[in-house]
Amino acid sequence: MALKSKSESVFFCSSCGYESKKWMGQCPACGEWNTFSEETVVRASSKASVGTAARGNVKAVSLSEIQSDEEIRMDTGFTELSRVLGGGIVPGSLILVGGDPGIGKSTLLLQTAANMAAAGKKIIYISGEESLRQIKLRADRIGSISDGLKFMSETNIDLITEVLEREKPDLAVIDSIQTMYTGEAQSVPGSVTQVRECAQRMMMCAKTNEIACFLVGHVTKEGTVAGPRVLEHIVDTVLQFESGDQFGYRLLRSAKNRFGSTNEIGVFEMSSEGLKEVKNPSEYLLEGRPKNATGAVVTCLIEGSRPMLMEVQGLAAETQYGLARRQANGLDYNRFTMLLAVLSKRCGLNLSNMDAYVNIAGGMKVTQPSADLAVVASVISSFKNIAVAEDTVIFGEVGLSGEVRSVPQVNERIKEAVKLGFKRVILPKVNLKGLKKYDGIELCGINFISEFFALL
Ligand code: TYD
Ligand code: MG
Repeated sequence: MALKSKSESVFFCSSCGYESKKWMGQCPACGEWNTFSEETVVRASSKASVGTAARGNVKAVSLSEIQSDEEIRMDTGFTELSRVLGGGIVPGSLILVGGDPGIGKSTLLLQTAANMAAAGKKIIYISGEESLRQIKLRADRIGSISDGLKFMSETNIDLITEVLEREKPDLAVIDSIQTMYTGEAQSVPGSVTQVRECAQRMMMCAKTNEIACFLVGHVTKEGTVAGPRVLEHIVDTVLQFESGDQFGYRLLRSAKNRFGSTNEIGVFEMSSEGLKEVKNPSEYLLEGRPKNATGAVVTCLIEGSRPMLMEVQGLAAETQYGLARRQANGLDYNRFTMLLAVLSKRCGLNLSNMDAYVNIAGGMKVTQPSADLAVVASVISSFKNIAVAEDTVIFGEVGLSGEVRSVPQVNERIKEAVKLGFKRVILPKVNLKGLKKYDGIELCGINFISEFFALL
């Protein structure tokens, strides 16, 4: 039977991959403006696309018929990365790493590849952006690399999958998916059809040959480059590499993970010899904290499975030009104004002619309500001009009646505070019930935020 195929022209949203017959100004799927671009696609007619050989050979199986060797995961040599992945790399999985240019995606993956090669794994690192000499320059900065790690500078995905099928490495790195192309899609590299097609091919190659694969994806707003959103549905795991802005460290988060939780974050620091793990982020975040400053309060949050201490800074200052300003950095603005309202209504704190600011030090973003009590405490401390003792950690959720509500995983939070030498914890009283005894740390439970004044 002759394969009937026809080529047609369609429009794709470069942000989410939405397909449309005609051009549109705004994408109905993701709401982005001006993201549609025209591409030619070749479609085989649906009947012809199922080969006659395949007919009759396809069957469904029950779970007991599927073989699984107890989940084996490959260690990445970075505990931070392994944790974010859910305990290591699952063989045959496809992991997309997204992030701004220059954030350190290539460096992270090169170091991971080097670590794994040193542990005896076979790895192929394919770069479509850098020549072999450029890769060598980077590799020289991060130290010696064993021969188990091979390099390729190539952009043709058909050639790449052929090499991978022949060599069958444990891990392949594709840097980046936007530079790859296949001869079968008729558009430029980086367009939605190409990116999707290349990712699909890599997926087939990875799953059938059990090759784990890292794909680097660029995040740009320009029309021609397809954002990783198109890819998110294809891959198993999506990692986001972002920076704490001017603060020098990098955060690795997972936005999707078929093999683990998405709450974990990994912390790295860029140095002259590549990325270094920040194993104790609490210490890092509290570094250089001012002593006995009013408005500075340390709180403890749970990020994924790990407790993290960070500093909340509050400032209440007299309003200069009539209208009182409220500003929140690293915290939801509405949550902050709500807490201020609770403070004035339930504690009689007159904030109507005061500007109020809150800032989470280190550029961290806080979404958990367990930071509420620390935010309230920092504003009170600044308002009263009395510093909270620097060896105090405060956490708890605050309700609209001014009550301090319980938070989960209290033991983990207290242990972290003990580890870093704090002497006092102010926490919700309800959390004290059934709590273990800790040496060298005083636990002060409170029921209402008004009780905090006595502890200042
Ligand atoms: P890179 O991994 O190339 O970023 P991406 O692939 O995400 O675009 O990292 C680029 C930055 O990292 C660059 O500005 C230089 C810096 N860098 C260091 O500071 N130290 C190092 O050892 C390396 C390799 C890079
Ligand atoms: Mg790069």
